[in-house]
Amino acid sequence: MAAVNTTGNKALIPFSSRLREGRALAEDVWSIFNAANLPADCLNLGQGYMNFPPPSWVRQAAEEALARTDTNHYSHPKGRLRLRNAIRDFYGPSFNREVDPDTEILVTSGANEGQYSVFTAFLEQGDEVILFEPFFDQYLPSVTFNGGVPVYVPLHPPKTDAHKSTSGDWTIDLDELRRAITSRTKMIIVNTPHNPVGKVFTRAELEGIAALAQEFNLLVMSDEVYDILTFEDKEHVRIATLPGMWDRTVTVQSAGKAFAATGWRVGWLIGPESIIRPTLAATTRIVFCSNSPLQEAVAQGLEQVKEKQFFETQRAEYEERRDILISAFEKLGVKYTVPDGSYFALMDVSTIDIPDDYAFPQSVLGRGRDFRACWFIALEVGVSTIPVSEFYCEEHASIGESYARFAFCKDVDTLKRAGERLQALKKYVKA
Ligand SMILES: Cc1ncc(COP(=O)(O)O)c(C=O)c1O
Repeated sequence: MAAVNTTGNKALIPFSSRLREGRALAEDVWSIFNAANLPADCLNLGQGYMNFPPPSWVRQAAEEALARTDTNHYSHPKGRLRLRNAIRDFYGPSFNREVDPDTEILVTSGANEGQYSVFTAFLEQGDEVILFEPFFDQYLPSVTFNGGVPVYVPLHPPKTDAHKSTSGDWTIDLDELRRAITSRTKMIIVNTPHNPVGKVFTRAELEGIAALAQEFNLLVMSDEVYDILTFEDKEHVRIATLPGMWDRTVTVQSAGKAFAATGWRVGWLIGPESIIRPTLAATTRIVFCSNSPLQEAVAQGLEQVKEKQFFETQRAEYEERRDILISAFEKLGVKYTVPDGSYFALMDVSTIDIPDDYAFPQSVLGRGRDFRACWFIALEVGVSTIPVSEFYCEEHASIGESYARFAFCKDVDTLKRAGERLQALKKYVKA
């Protein structure tokens, strides 16, 4: 019998049943809220990429690398030595140790591929991986494609009637986390600063997670791709630096976030040789190596950030962008979460009164109310955002249905214009 392909037509060759898991075949939120489906003048605060280029001196380094011969060819699967040395020099001190660029750093094709390779290297069929919800959606298929079983532990939204809460008001329940651990649990994914909540996990929270990881012998994948973005001097704690945690933690970082270069696909992992070596074996057989010229450019970028005080300046710029957005939420009179880190802010859309007879496309009908709210906002006022129920499992999706995620990795002018446009929602905000 011929198989049925993704479009429902008969296919000669059946695709792998793997694609039926991890929502790989479902129409993803990025496609639904894609610019192509929205009004042409819609301001895109949806997908988390910048509407400005990487800094000129990093672009210049990329051009120079493209003009050389060696940097246009395969790099060592571990990553270019210059980049691994630059990572050691810049980030090593924040791990309170001399990180060995030969055995403890692995350059990957973005954070995504690094995470995928860790799953390939460590998961046996049926191993459980704990994810805090809301979670970065890519984790799910990356886990299931590698035979893992996701287990969900929700972050609990602020229990307050106040309009303004902070991302720190989203809390974890360590007893709930303990209850989620079984004899099949292999790994916990921590994401701090967090996408989409903007939460920066406190030292005490990370100590609680670390204690459980040690008690049950779990690997911790610490996704810290937004570690350069914490606001108001909020302390970013690396779980790898807590006592006893280096040996069981792999830290994930991304040049895409650090240098406004999400399309460059350069990221890296830092961890003990016992985690990096098997992951190197996996990444070598998945991509062999990451793209060479842009690794070289990122190396030059990291070599210069200190002298140029680039991350300090960038952080201040993002704080200004965040404040423009949240002051628009405040003026509009909706509930919202002020993020302590990352470049996302959540608006509570549960008080937006969506007209019953509004014409929605099929793609958002049958999904959470937040899908309809985000569609309505995009069409009514021309600002696109992302519905947060997409970052939850089906069982917990109702928690996310109250929120829309706004990405503020956009220039000040765009954010100001978006803030002004949002005020047109006032007549729909329920008291
Ligand atoms: C939490 C989180 N982890 C990982 C990634 C992926 O990073 P990269 O673009 O380097 O693959 C993202 C991108 O949005 C993210 O938000």
